[in-house]
Amino acid sequence: MSIEIPAGLTELLQSFTVEVLRNQPADLLEFALQYFTRLKENESRGGAFGNERNSSGRAGKAVNFCEEAMQIDSENGDEEDDDDEEFVAPVINRFVRRASVCAEAFNPDEDEEDKDARVTHPKTDEQRRRLQEACKDILLFKNLDQEQMSQVLDAMFDKIVVTGEHIIEQDDDGDNFYVIGRGTFDIVLKVDGTTRTVGSYDNRGSFGELALMYNTPRAATIIATSPGALWCLDRLTFRRLIVKNNAKKRKMYEAFIGTVPLLTSLEESERMKVVDVLSTKVYDSGQRIIAQGDLADCFYIVESGHVRITMKRSKSKSDTEEEELEITTCSRGQYFGELALVTNKPRAASAYAVDNVKCLVIDVQAFERLLGPCMDIMKRNIANYEEQLTALFASHMAIDEQNA
Ligand code: CMP
Ligand code: CMP
Repeated sequence: MSIEIPAGLTELLQSFTVEVLRNQPADLLEFALQYFTRLKENESRGGAFGNERNSSGRAGKAVNFCEEAMQIDSENGDEEDDDDEEFVAPVINRFVRRASVCAEAFNPDEDEEDKDARVTHPKTDEQRRRLQEACKDILLFKNLDQEQMSQVLDAMFDKIVVTGEHIIEQDDDGDNFYVIGRGTFDIVLKVDGTTRTVGSYDNRGSFGELALMYNTPRAATIIATSPGALWCLDRLTFRRLIVKNNAKKRKMYEAFIGTVPLLTSLEESERMKVVDVLSTKVYDSGQRIIAQGDLADCFYIVESGHVRITMKRSKSKSDTEEEELEITTCSRGQYFGELALVTNKPRAASAYAVDNVKCLVIDVQAFERLLGPCMDIMKRNIANYEEQLTALFASHMAIDEQNA
């Protein structure tokens, strides 16, 4: 008697097995429940199980395994990712990270008007609101125009994660860029055979941009340390919108970034990576940029205007009343906001826009990853802060005593 194997069963079980082997969940049943619930939710939303863009000829299958496995061009990790670069973009399955990838050629310049390249994952109003909230501080999205941002929001899809799940595995090919909806995640680096946790994300932020931007293998492992939810952006849309935008950014900031004294110790390609991750923020005259005592998550370089740095101190030893003293002013090419990131402490001072100010902003993860070579210069300047403050407070005390 021959038993007929239902269509799709093999692929369904294969995809599930791959996810189990990759994630090694402690509770297999719970993991299975979440996995199949997600598949079902997706099916009822009308999407193919796998990536919609890959659904031709494979509709109805749980998983799109590519027959012609193809090497992603990670070895041509050309740092100088150029606007005209022809690159290979994989077709990605949302549920199975790529053991192998299919490839399709893609040229960012040709693609601009290609409406077919747009990916849309339908969302309820509530989901879209939550997505917008999660994306509002993502620096990589800050330079997108309204239409581009709307395409990004359309293309994003959600993924529920369980504690212990490996969202990204170091050295894998890159599939998605992730924005955190909720949950905590560890950043784990394997260097010379030793593994260590180098940082974490706490309910906000994003990760997974590097492999997509530079066509390199994943640079770290990201592990969920709580149940959580992620918003995912597929590689193709990321490259079409974000990488293309970055090429423009490089042209815009190349000259200025070369004049920033702090960054002179970086190689040209390293400086361009700084440009890729930076965003710009403008402030009106008098607006507060940093509040003393706040937790810190970014670093600033002044592109135009002047920034006043102030610090609170008690008016006298017995006095609980505080006054805010001006410590220094930063102008074009100068930086501030590094101290809290280096010392892992709250902001030591406040910063205010003196006139109309434009700053380049870099988030803490990129700061740590990219500005290591500038650390000596920063530390030398930090060493001067103490002296600067002692002199300032002493002169103010002398004035106070004279006035008393
Ligand atoms: P990607 O290399 O695509 O996948 C791993 C991600 O971890 C990486 O992109 C960054 O978004 C993130 N990450 C955070 N901190 C680091 C770090 N110190 N080194 C490498 N990647 C990091
Ligand atoms: P951070 O503490 O992150 O935020 C306030 C910033 O003010 C601080 O980093 C420095 O970049 C800047 N600053 C300038 N002069 C001083 C100083 N004397 N002491 C502390 N911070 C200073």
